[in-house]
Amino acid sequence: MRDTFNLRSRFQARFGPRTPAPRAFFAPGRVNLIGEHTDYNDGFVLPVALELGTTVIAAPRDDRRVRVHTVDLDASAEIDLDQPGPGNTGRWIDYIAGVAHMVDTTIQPIRGADLLVAGDVPRGAGLSSSAALEVATGFALLSLAGATIDRVALALAGQAAEHTFVGMRCGIMDQLVSACARVGSALLVDCRSLAAEAVPLPGGPVAILITDTRKKHALATSEYNTRRAECERGVALLRSALPDIRALRDVTEEAFTKHASLLPEPILRRVRHVVTENARTQFAADALRRGDIEAVGASFVASHRSLQHDYEVSCPELDALVDLAIAQPGVRGARMTGGGFGGSTVSLVDESALDAVMAAVRDAYQRRFRVEPGFLITRGGAGARELDT
Ligand code: GLA
Repeated sequence: MRDTFNLRSRFQARFGPRTPAPRAFFAPGRVNLIGEHTDYNDGFVLPVALELGTTVIAAPRDDRRVRVHTVDLDASAEIDLDQPGPGNTGRWIDYIAGVAHMVDTTIQPIRGADLLVAGDVPRGAGLSSSAALEVATGFALLSLAGATIDRVALALAGQAAEHTFVGMRCGIMDQLVSACARVGSALLVDCRSLAAEAVPLPGGPVAILITDTRKKHALATSEYNTRRAECERGVALLRSALPDIRALRDVTEEAFTKHASLLPEPILRRVRHVVTENARTQFAADALRRGDIEAVGASFVASHRSLQHDYEVSCPELDALVDLAIAQPGVRGARMTGGGFGGSTVSLVDESALDAVMAAVRDAYQRRFRVEPGFLITRGGAGARELDT
């Protein structure tokens, strides 16, 4: 767990002593088990919150200024809530200015604050360090304003901040799981209704192993926004035959096969990925509930191939990590996780095989890419919360 004692003394060193003492808030990063690039198509996702995340130490101010210091970057900035600015500076403060403005204008008016921010989710690893930052900051600012936290509204404010202040047209998955996760569980989210159901993880003999390519997902924002536009184009083209569809979520596998000739390349493959991924995600959630890890693992591999060949958001490093993992005894399935173009993979691994799998994958990956992959194991963390003093 985070060393809030240490962070509190850093807060005091930077902003001076406070009475009452500053409060501490936390929101986790996430790893998505399956349901990739489905959230912005109103589809299904099955993410798990990490034990790692962002901690915010926060004290209220009497004005409408938010002063922030980030420990990770050793940098400070200040925001005026009445003049939040256009954002899109490409700097870390965009996330904070964005979420402050969004909670202030869409949930409830907030007051100024002094914030010390520290995160332990590796950045650029596809594990949603930015959602953790947004949700932890929004949770802190709303709590200082005396609000009862509406977790779904908080997630939506974080997403809106990304759209408006960061320029990333992300779906709702990352912020929603960061706000709403339950310990030891994945969250099956219907991204249309935003209904979320906790699906217990197998725990015990099967571990969730995250492997970081250590390749930062650099192209991610522009390619991500392109994929979104391609999906919207797919919906528009399919409407000539299926006038009632609102999003690719409404297209069944049968309807897709019947009307595939309406779609040019690469829209055809983009749509095929989303349609099949939605089916795989619901299937995998059922299999997880039944404890059928074989079936979950097979869905992981099918999902990866679809992201690799149809959605084209993978990269040689991700493909290598998946291929290396699934060749090891004790690995039930592996796939890229998150937006793609770098970042991490997620594998289901028999606990007894973990050490051997990590050693084999590390050696082979390092030989090929000359960089050591990062490893992380999660049992499923809890969603955003205030930490005890
Ligand atoms: C990023 C976005 C999410 C989701 C994934 C892909 O993490 O923030 O909303 O679209 O990519 O599944």
